[in-house]
Amino acid sequence: MRTQVAIIGSGPAGLLLGALLAKAGVETVILERKSRDYVLGRIRAGVLEQGTVDLLARAGVEARLHREGLVHEGFFMGFANRRLRIDLTELTGGRHVTVYGQTEVTRDLMDARDAAGLTTIYEAEDVAIHDFDRDSPCVTFVEDGVSHRLDCDFIAGCDGFHGICRASVPSGAIQLFEKVYPFGWLGVLADVPPCSHELIYANHARGFALCSMRSPTRSRYYVQVPADEDVGAWSDQRFWDELRLRLDPEAADRVVTGPSIEKSIAPLRSFVAEPLRFGRLFLAGDAAHIVPPTGAKGLNLAAGDAHYLAEALAEFYRDRSDAGIRAYSERALARIWKSERFSWSLTMLLHRFDTMSPFEQRMQEADFRYVESSRAAQTAIAENYVGLPL
Ligand code: FAD
Ligand code: PHB
Repeated sequence: MRTQVAIIGSGPAGLLLGALLAKAGVETVILERKSRDYVLGRIRAGVLEQGTVDLLARAGVEARLHREGLVHEGFFMGFANRRLRIDLTELTGGRHVTVYGQTEVTRDLMDARDAAGLTTIYEAEDVAIHDFDRDSPCVTFVEDGVSHRLDCDFIAGCDGFHGICRASVPSGAIQLFEKVYPFGWLGVLADVPPCSHELIYANHARGFALCSMRSPTRSRYYVQVPADEDVGAWSDQRFWDELRLRLDPEAADRVVTGPSIEKSIAPLRSFVAEPLRFGRLFLAGDAAHIVPPTGAKGLNLAAGDAHYLAEALAEFYRDRSDAGIRAYSERALARIWKSERFSWSLTMLLHRFDTMSPFEQRMQEADFRYVESSRAAQTAIAENYVGLPL
């Protein structure tokens, strides 16, 4: 088998890269370790920046998103039972975000890929990448017990945080930056109407809580829990009781409870690998960086990487120039670090840390009061939340 770009991983980064490259006439094959249904069953991000929506439109998959996505012009930050609205649209000169689940983005991209007759190999086992430091790399894998070899010009490592691509780079060639937070988010998805028409990010003495949604009839809620928490210790009733305790009285009253459809704990981490190119191997999305979900940046950053990488590779095939390829790492990292900073700073503002000294606690309170009183501070949050320019 031969293709121009072998893409490892069919998450948002790999699928969007494949779609953008198809538009540029570049051939791809995607190799995915899991089944299509498994990938679609993972409940993850929910908020899309305008830039991500524009990229999906460029990839030709915006129809359902425009029909079903919910446009949000603001969100709330809660602190000590008070609520502050960040008016995204007013503070950013008319911009907004769209609530549309990662599952739906993934489904739309997979459907478009199938309709275009492009190759995705699901349940590819033992995927390994070779010779990316030479001119003709290749990927080996096993499908239905049979070994295969895919020759290619380039390999895109879009295989998430636990993938094999980053791990295949010699340790001396890569630098890793990491901060692990001492807590995770326990998330619940339920078919109940959301308690608020806009998201609420609440800092509470019992810990952070987030009220989000997927549709007018489907809610997504999160509460901060210790990093080593067992999800089995959380019955639905315990979750709903804890959520209500962490919200302001008006929001708590409006919480409608129901059986959970999904319940899981995601650890919180900040992580960046540098650089993002190793010869003919590129890293993109969670394979290259992780943000804590507080700023809703994970999926959006993956989309940004796919955009930069698609431009670089399209330029290579169109103009026979490797300028874009050489610039990819630096270009993507410049934006990645700004999103890392934003996600880290919102995480520090909104969560409770057992290790916080009374001084640091007062600093967190002062930080919130400053945001409450300053249009400049709110503007800084709003412009990051709607997404920095690509
Ligand atoms: P992924 O979506 O992880 O896709 C990588 C793909 O590669 C996967 O399909 C995987 O199966 C495949 N793969 C892995 N190894 C191999 C291999 N060896 N061979 C072949 N394929 C392989 N972001 C938010 O903004 N809000 C959230 O609420 C949120 N919640 C999250 C919860 C969890 C548990 C996780 C892990 C992430 C969450 N994120 C959230 C982050 C967001 O979902 C990611 O940033 C986004 O999925 C990144 O897309 P990606 O394509 O880079 O990686
Ligand atoms: C979600 O709806 O899952 C979601 C929304 C906003 C975030 C994180 C997760 O910041």
